[in-house]
Amino acid sequence: MERGGIFESGKVAVITGAALGIGKALALRLAGKGMSVVMADLPGPDLDAAVAEVQAAASAGPETVLGQATDVSKPDQIDALKIATLAAFSQVELLVNNAVTRTGRGFDADPESWRQAMEVNLWGPVTAVQAFLPDLLANPAPTAIVNTGSKQGITNPPGHPIYNMTKSALKTYTEALEHDLRNRPDNQGAGRLSTHLLVPGWTTTGKAEHKPGAWLPDRVVDMLLDGVAGERFYIICPDDEVTAEMDAKRILWAAQDITENRPPLSRWHPDFAEVARKACS
Ligand SMILES: NC(=O)c1ccc[n+]([C@@H]2O[C@H](COP(=O)([O-])OP(=O)(O)OC[C@H]3O[C@@H](n4cnc5c(N)ncnc54)[C@H](O)[C@@H]3O)[C@@H](O)[C@H]2O)c1
Repeated sequence: MERGGIFESGKVAVITGAALGIGKALALRLAGKGMSVVMADLPGPDLDAAVAEVQAAASAGPETVLGQATDVSKPDQIDALKIATLAAFSQVELLVNNAVTRTGRGFDADPESWRQAMEVNLWGPVTAVQAFLPDLLANPAPTAIVNTGSKQGITNPPGHPIYNMTKSALKTYTEALEHDLRNRPDNQGAGRLSTHLLVPGWTTTGKAEHKPGAWLPDRVVDMLLDGVAGERFYIICPDDEVTAEMDAKRILWAAQDITENRPPLSRWHPDFAEVARKACS
Protein backbone atom coordinates (compact mmCIF):
# COMPACT_ATOMS: atom_id res chain seq x y z
CA MET A 1 0.00 0.00 0.00
CA GLU A 2 1.27 3.49 -0.78
CA ARG A 3 1.93 6.11 1.90
CA GLY A 4 -1.27 7.86 0.84
CA GLY A 5 -3.13 4.87 2.28
CA ILE A 6 -2.45 6.37 5.70
CA PHE A 7 -5.27 8.82 4.96
CA GLU A 8 -7.89 6.22 4.01
CA SER A 9 -11.17 5.68 5.77
CA GLY A 10 -10.79 3.59 8.93
CA LYS A 11 -7.23 4.72 9.65
CA VAL A 12 -6.49 6.47 12.95
CA ALA A 13 -4.79 9.84 13.46
CA VAL A 14 -3.67 11.53 16.68
CA ILE A 15 -3.26 15.30 16.38
CA THR A 16 -1.92 17.51 19.16
CA GLY A 17 -2.91 21.16 19.28
CA ALA A 18 -6.11 20.20 17.44
CA ALA A 19 -8.41 22.83 18.97
CA LEU A 20 -7.34 25.64 16.64
CA GLY A 21 -5.48 26.51 13.49
CA ILE A 22 -3.70 23.92 11.39
CA GLY A 23 -4.44 21.11 13.86
CA LYS A 24 -8.18 21.70 13.70
CA ALA A 25 -8.15 22.03 9.91
CA LEU A 26 -6.30 18.72 9.68
CA ALA A 27 -8.76 17.04 12.04
CA LEU A 28 -11.67 18.29 9.92
CA ARG A 29 -10.05 17.03 6.72
CA LEU A 30 -9.18 13.58 8.06
CA ALA A 31 -12.56 13.07 9.72
CA GLY A 32 -14.17 14.09 6.44
CA LYS A 33 -12.27 11.23 4.79
CA GLY A 34 -13.71 8.73 7.25
CA MET A 35 -10.61 8.44 9.41
CA SER A 36 -10.83 8.18 13.18
CA VAL A 37 -9.29 11.24 14.79
CA VAL A 38 -8.05 11.86 18.30
CA MET A 39 -7.94 15.59 18.98
CA ALA A 40 -5.53 16.43 21.81
CA ASP A 41 -5.28 19.91 23.25
CA LEU A 42 -5.43 21.78 26.53
CA PRO A 43 -8.84 21.42 28.17
CA GLY A 44 -11.32 24.24 27.63
CA PRO A 45 -13.99 25.67 25.39
CA ASP A 46 -11.75 25.77 22.29
CA LEU A 47 -11.19 22.02 22.44
CA ASP A 48 -14.85 21.32 23.22
CA ALA A 49 -16.06 23.46 20.31
CA ALA A 50 -13.52 22.01 17.88
CA VAL A 51 -14.38 18.42 18.81
CA ALA A 52 -18.11 19.14 18.31
CA GLU A 53 -17.38 20.72 14.92
CA VAL A 54 -15.23 17.83 13.75
CA GLN A 55 -17.71 15.25 15.06
CA ALA A 56 -20.44 16.94 13.04
CA ALA A 57 -18.26 16.75 9.91
CA ALA A 58 -17.06 13.17 10.43
CA SER A 59 -18.17 11.05 7.51
CA ALA A 60 -17.86 7.83 9.51
CA GLY A 61 -19.95 9.21 12.37
CA PRO A 62 -19.32 11.31 15.48
CA GLU A 63 -18.05 8.32 17.44
CA THR A 64 -14.94 8.30 15.22
CA VAL A 65 -13.77 11.61 16.75
CA LEU A 66 -12.37 11.67 20.26
CA GLY A 67 -11.38 14.80 22.17
CA GLN A 68 -8.67 14.18 24.73
CA ALA A 69 -7.63 16.96 27.11
CA THR A 70 -3.84 16.81 27.02
CA ASP A 71 -1.01 19.06 28.05
CA VAL A 72 1.78 17.73 25.84
CA SER A 73 4.41 18.97 28.28
CA LYS A 74 3.20 16.40 30.84
CA PRO A 75 4.44 12.86 30.11
CA ASP A 76 1.65 11.24 32.14
CA GLN A 77 -0.91 13.05 29.97
CA ILE A 78 0.81 11.77 26.83
CA ASP A 79 0.57 8.26 28.27
CA ALA A 80 -3.13 8.86 28.92
CA LEU A 81 -3.52 10.07 25.31
CA LYS A 82 -2.05 6.85 24.00
CA ILE A 83 -4.18 4.71 26.30
CA ALA A 84 -7.32 6.59 25.26
CA THR A 85 -6.43 6.27 21.56
CA LEU A 86 -5.92 2.52 21.71
CA ALA A 87 -8.96 2.02 23.94
CA ALA A 88 -11.16 3.87 21.44
CA PHE A 89 -9.68 2.74 18.12
CA SER A 90 -7.22 -0.15 18.85
CA GLN A 91 -4.56 1.11 16.41
CA VAL A 92 -2.80 4.24 15.19
CA GLU A 93 -1.46 5.12 11.74
CA LEU A 94 -0.60 8.81 12.05
CA LEU A 95 0.84 10.97 14.83
CA VAL A 96 0.95 14.71 14.17
CA ASN A 97 2.86 16.75 16.74
CA ASN A 98 1.40 20.16 16.04
CA ALA A 99 0.77 21.79 19.46
CA VAL A 100 2.75 24.95 20.07
CA THR A 101 3.38 27.57 22.69
CA ARG A 102 4.73 30.95 21.70
CA THR A 103 5.46 31.87 25.31
CA GLY A 104 8.22 34.33 26.04
CA ARG A 105 9.87 36.52 23.46
CA GLY A 106 13.28 38.18 23.73
CA PHE A 107 16.39 37.43 25.72
CA ASP A 108 15.01 39.18 28.79
CA ALA A 109 12.17 36.65 29.07
CA ASP A 110 12.14 34.82 32.38
CA PRO A 111 13.87 31.42 32.47
CA GLU A 112 10.55 29.69 33.08
CA SER A 113 9.32 30.84 29.65
CA TRP A 114 12.40 29.37 28.00
CA ARG A 115 11.88 26.08 29.83
CA GLN A 116 8.14 25.95 29.17
CA ALA A 117 8.65 26.56 25.46
CA MET A 118 11.04 23.62 25.27
CA GLU A 119 8.66 21.47 27.33
CA VAL A 120 5.78 22.03 24.91
CA ASN A 121 7.48 22.46 21.53
CA LEU A 122 10.34 19.95 21.88
CA TRP A 123 9.73 17.57 24.80
CA GLY A 124 6.04 17.25 23.90
CA PRO A 125 6.84 15.74 20.48
CA VAL A 126 9.76 13.66 21.83
CA THR A 127 7.54 12.19 24.55
CA ALA A 128 4.69 11.53 22.14
CA VAL A 129 7.01 9.80 19.67
CA GLN A 130 8.37 7.55 22.41
CA ALA A 131 4.86 6.73 23.61
CA PHE A 132 3.40 5.89 20.18
CA LEU A 133 6.50 4.43 18.48
CA PRO A 134 5.96 0.76 19.46
CA ASP A 135 2.39 0.81 18.11
CA LEU A 136 3.32 2.66 14.92
CA LEU A 137 6.16 0.22 14.26
CA ALA A 138 4.06 -2.85 15.06
CA ASN A 139 1.30 -1.77 12.67
CA PRO A 140 1.72 -3.78 9.44
CA ALA A 141 0.14 -0.95 7.39
CA PRO A 142 2.08 2.24 6.46
CA THR A 143 2.33 4.68 9.37
CA ALA A 144 3.74 8.19 9.76
CA ILE A 145 4.90 10.75 12.26
CA VAL A 146 4.63 14.41 11.29
CA ASN A 147 6.44 16.94 13.47
CA THR A 148 5.59 20.56 12.84
CA GLY A 149 8.60 22.80 12.55
CA SER A 150 8.98 26.35 11.35
CA LYS A 151 11.13 28.36 8.99
CA GLN A 152 12.12 30.21 12.15
CA GLY A 153 13.82 27.00 13.27
CA ILE A 154 15.81 26.92 10.01
CA THR A 155 16.75 30.53 9.19
CA ASN A 156 16.56 31.87 12.77
CA PRO A 157 15.21 35.39 12.17
CA PRO A 158 15.62 37.87 15.05
CA GLY A 159 12.66 38.65 17.31
CA HIS A 160 11.63 35.40 18.99
CA PRO A 161 14.74 33.42 19.90
CA ILE A 162 12.84 31.16 22.31
CA TYR A 163 10.47 29.92 19.61
CA ASN A 164 13.28 29.65 17.06
CA MET A 165 15.35 27.56 19.47
CA THR A 166 12.51 25.11 20.10
CA LYS A 167 11.79 24.67 16.39
CA SER A 168 15.47 24.30 15.52
CA ALA A 169 15.80 21.58 18.16
CA LEU A 170 12.69 19.85 16.82
CA LYS A 171 14.11 19.92 13.28
CA THR A 172 17.37 18.31 14.45
CA TYR A 173 15.46 15.70 16.43
CA THR A 174 13.12 14.87 13.54
CA GLU A 175 15.96 14.58 11.00
CA ALA A 176 17.80 12.16 13.28
CA LEU A 177 14.59 10.20 13.92
CA GLU A 178 13.99 9.74 10.19
CA HIS A 179 17.56 8.54 9.73
CA ASP A 180 17.24 6.07 12.58
CA LEU A 181 13.90 4.70 11.43
CA ARG A 182 15.07 4.43 7.83
CA ASN A 183 17.90 2.15 8.94
CA ARG A 184 16.06 -0.02 11.44
CA PRO A 185 15.83 -3.62 10.24
CA ASP A 186 12.35 -3.88 11.76
CA ASN A 187 11.11 -0.86 9.78
CA GLN A 188 11.54 -1.81 6.12
CA GLY A 189 9.15 -2.37 3.24
CA ALA A 190 5.79 -0.96 2.25
CA GLY A 191 4.36 -0.94 5.77
CA ARG A 192 7.20 1.08 7.27
CA LEU A 193 6.90 4.07 9.58
CA SER A 194 7.98 7.31 7.88
CA THR A 195 8.79 10.63 9.52
CA HIS A 196 8.16 14.10 8.12
CA LEU A 197 8.97 17.68 9.06
CA LEU A 198 6.04 19.95 8.16
CA VAL A 199 7.12 23.57 7.86
CA PRO A 200 4.16 25.91 7.40
CA GLY A 201 4.66 29.36 5.95
CA TRP A 202 2.72 32.35 7.22
CA THR A 203 -0.71 30.89 8.01
CA THR A 204 -3.73 32.52 9.62
CA THR A 205 -4.44 30.45 12.72
CA GLY A 206 -5.57 30.72 16.32
CA LYS A 207 -8.02 33.59 16.54
CA ALA A 208 -6.04 35.90 14.28
CA GLU A 209 -7.69 37.95 11.58
CA HIS A 210 -6.83 36.75 8.07
CA LYS A 211 -4.45 39.13 6.30
CA PRO A 212 -3.43 39.23 2.65
CA GLY A 213 -0.24 37.27 2.12
CA ALA A 214 -1.06 34.56 4.62
CA TRP A 215 -2.40 31.13 3.74
CA LEU A 216 -5.44 29.60 5.35
CA PRO A 217 -4.74 26.33 7.23
CA ASP A 218 -6.42 24.15 4.58
CA ARG A 219 -3.58 24.85 2.15
CA VAL A 220 -1.05 23.65 4.71
CA VAL A 221 -3.19 20.53 5.15
CA ASP A 222 -3.05 19.98 1.36
CA MET A 223 0.76 20.17 1.54
CA LEU A 224 0.88 17.76 4.48
CA LEU A 225 -1.24 15.13 2.72
CA ASP A 226 0.69 15.47 -0.55
CA GLY A 227 4.03 15.45 1.25
CA VAL A 228 3.37 12.29 3.25
CA ALA A 229 1.83 10.51 0.24
CA GLY A 230 4.80 11.63 -1.89
CA GLU A 231 7.32 10.41 0.71
CA ARG A 232 8.84 13.86 1.20
CA PHE A 233 10.61 14.42 4.52
CA TYR A 234 10.80 18.22 4.30
CA ILE A 235 7.32 19.57 3.60
CA ILE A 236 8.04 23.28 3.26
CA CYS A 237 5.00 25.44 2.60
CA PRO A 238 5.27 28.78 0.84
CA ASP A 239 2.65 31.47 1.41
CA ASP A 240 1.27 34.27 -0.72
CA GLU A 241 4.27 36.51 0.10
CA VAL A 242 7.17 34.05 0.17
CA THR A 243 7.59 31.66 -2.75
CA ALA A 244 9.27 28.26 -2.62
CA GLU A 245 12.19 29.76 -4.55
CA MET A 246 12.61 32.54 -1.97
CA ASP A 247 12.50 29.98 0.84
CA ALA A 248 15.22 27.93 -0.85
CA LYS A 249 17.44 31.00 -1.23
CA ARG A 250 16.91 32.06 2.39
CA ILE A 251 17.70 28.57 3.69
CA LEU A 252 20.84 28.45 1.55
CA TRP A 253 21.89 31.92 2.69
CA ALA A 254 21.56 30.89 6.35
CA ALA A 255 23.66 27.73 5.78
CA GLN A 256 26.27 29.81 3.98
CA ASP A 257 26.74 32.02 7.04
CA ILE A 258 28.84 29.09 8.25
CA THR A 259 30.62 28.15 5.03
CA GLU A 260 31.31 31.79 4.06
CA ASN A 261 32.42 32.70 7.59
CA ARG A 262 29.81 35.44 7.91
CA PRO A 263 28.26 36.48 11.23
CA PRO A 264 25.14 34.48 12.18
CA LEU A 265 21.81 35.94 11.07
CA SER A 266 23.76 37.94 8.49
CA ARG A 267 20.53 38.54 6.52
CA TRP A 268 19.76 41.09 9.22
CA HIS A 269 23.35 42.40 9.64
CA PRO A 270 23.91 45.92 8.23
CA ASP A 271 27.02 44.79 6.31
CA PHE A 272 25.17 41.99 4.53
CA ALA A 273 21.48 42.86 4.57
CA GLU A 274 21.36 44.50 1.14
CA VAL A 275 23.35 41.74 -0.60
CA ALA A 276 21.19 39.15 1.17
CA ARG A 277 17.99 40.89 0.13
CA LYS A 278 19.02 40.74 -3.54
CA ALA A 279 20.32 37.16 -3.28
CA CYS A 280 17.17 35.92 -1.59
CA SER A 281 14.50 37.68 -3.63
N1 LIG B 1 0.57 29.78 11.89
C1 LIG B 1 1.74 29.94 11.32
O1 LIG B 1 1.98 30.93 10.58
C2 LIG B 1 2.83 28.92 11.52
C3 LIG B 1 4.05 29.12 10.85
C4 LIG B 1 5.05 28.19 11.03
C5 LIG B 1 4.85 27.10 11.86
N2 LIG B 1 3.65 26.93 12.49
C6 LIG B 1 3.51 25.76 13.36
O2 LIG B 1 2.31 25.07 13.03
C7 LIG B 1 1.79 24.42 14.20
C8 LIG B 1 0.36 24.83 14.39
O3 LIG B 1 0.36 26.22 14.58
P1 LIG B 1 -0.96 27.09 14.54
O4 LIG B 1 -0.52 28.46 14.17
O5 LIG B 1 -2.01 26.36 13.80
O6 LIG B 1 -1.30 27.11 16.10
P2 LIG B 1 -2.52 27.75 16.90
O7 LIG B 1 -1.96 28.79 17.80
O8 LIG B 1 -3.68 28.06 16.03
O9 LIG B 1 -2.93 26.46 17.77
C9 LIG B 1 -2.00 25.87 18.62
C10 LIG B 1 -2.75 24.91 19.51
O10 LIG B 1 -1.79 24.31 20.42
C11 LIG B 1 -2.41 24.21 21.67
N3 LIG B 1 -1.46 24.08 22.76
C12 LIG B 1 -0.67 25.05 23.31
N4 LIG B 1 0.02 24.54 24.34
C13 LIG B 1 -0.33 23.23 24.44
C14 LIG B 1 0.03 22.18 25.32
N5 LIG B 1 0.91 22.37 26.30
N6 LIG B 1 -0.54 20.96 25.14
C15 LIG B 1 -1.44 20.76 24.14
N7 LIG B 1 -1.83 21.72 23.28
C16 LIG B 1 -1.28 22.93 23.43
C17 LIG B 1 -3.23 25.50 21.78
O11 LIG B 1 -4.21 25.38 22.81
C18 LIG B 1 -3.80 25.63 20.38
O12 LIG B 1 -5.05 25.00 20.24
C19 LIG B 1 2.70 24.85 15.35
O13 LIG B 1 3.63 23.83 15.63
C20 LIG B 1 3.39 26.09 14.82
O14 LIG B 1 4.66 26.29 15.41
C21 LIG B 1 2.64 27.82 12.35
